[in-house]
Amino acid sequence: MIYDEEKQLKNDKKGENRDMDCRIVTIPGDGIGPEIVREACKVLDKTGQVFGHKFQYTEILMGGCSIDAYGVPLTEEALETARKSDAVLLGAVGGDVGNSRWYNVAPNLRPEAGLLAIRKGLNLFANIRPAYLYSQLADACPLKKEIIGDGFDMVIMRELTGGLYFGERHTSSVDGVMTAVDTLTYNENEIRRIAVKAFDIAMKRRKKVISVDKANVLDSSRLWRNVVEEVAKDYPEVELSHMLVDNCAMQLVMNPGQFDVILTENMFGDILSDEASMITGSIGMLSSASLNETKFGLYEPSHGSAPDIAGKDMANPIATILSAAMMLRYSFDLDEEADAIESAVQKVLTDGYRTGDIYGEGCTKVGTEKMGDLIADNVCRQ
Ligand code: IPM
Ligand code: MG
Repeated sequence: MIYDEEKQLKNDKKGENRDMDCRIVTIPGDGIGPEIVREACKVLDKTGQVFGHKFQYTEILMGGCSIDAYGVPLTEEALETARKSDAVLLGAVGGDVGNSRWYNVAPNLRPEAGLLAIRKGLNLFANIRPAYLYSQLADACPLKKEIIGDGFDMVIMRELTGGLYFGERHTSSVDGVMTAVDTLTYNENEIRRIAVKAFDIAMKRRKKVISVDKANVLDSSRLWRNVVEEVAKDYPEVELSHMLVDNCAMQLVMNPGQFDVILTENMFGDILSDEASMITGSIGMLSSASLNETKFGLYEPSHGSAPDIAGKDMANPIATILSAAMMLRYSFDLDEEADAIESAVQKVLTDGYRTGDIYGEGCTKVGTEKMGDLIADNVCRQ
């Protein structure tokens, strides 16, 4: 990130934001990825115009498109380009498992392996997935009105570079019986650093952390619980409680309003975040940020590449646009600008515009591009 010191001084005097040059690597990826990233960049550019920042984009390939071009889902060069940037904006990777070009190969050469490799390669261990019920979309929420109550606003803090997804695995014949092994390992340092992120974020919210584990069965969960308890001592203002993952899956649909920050390990977070996204009405609304120890992060919608609707101008770009807002907030400290994007999304929803996935009676149905235009048009200083 490059600050223009003279400009900044001048702006500070005027009480305005500093001008910033932000070097963003974009990964359009596969399926609907390119069209939703395009709309997010459109909204970023408009935000840059309004607030006086410049966003520079460098595109890299990852996923199926990288397999087609280079035979691997992520090249070393692409990873290096991402590493040198200030932040990464990702659409989605992967495709139809029927696509033999991408899926009839070893697991470590499939599109999703690119995603796992970039998370690990850039040490993006903290995955923040907010699940918030927009009042405008309450009708799209599959839960009963009495369960929804005043709505919900939670953040899932998912550990992203450890656990089952990165443990050793193999499949072999044991005494003539095909046997598969996946290993689930966590060390105390991995648990501590994600717990610290969860408590930090709770301090800026309603100061409540629910740590989710399976401590009645798993050793890794028992260690998880002990370490989280230790970290909690440094945050006396935050209320900590523990919940077993099966109970959490149930509580999410029984009483979602009870959650503020959910702290959990990789696989539990993967599953629970899909569940949480569905009760917001559409997975097309959910943004996410994956961060390392510094301000560097990768921002992506929580949904997949939806190959069935790719290129049809049907995808909902809001999750990616909100991910770009998270990028401004977490990587560039541009809170006012992030607020402006979030308000623009609210305004467009209030005005009744909807993509197909969130469409309801009396609303105006729009495509991907139009939704991007509307949100960009509504970005302004508050
Ligand atoms: C997600 C996805 C990925 C994950 C897959 C595509 C590897 O489901 O980001 O939630 O499990 O992390
Ligand atoms: Mg998932």
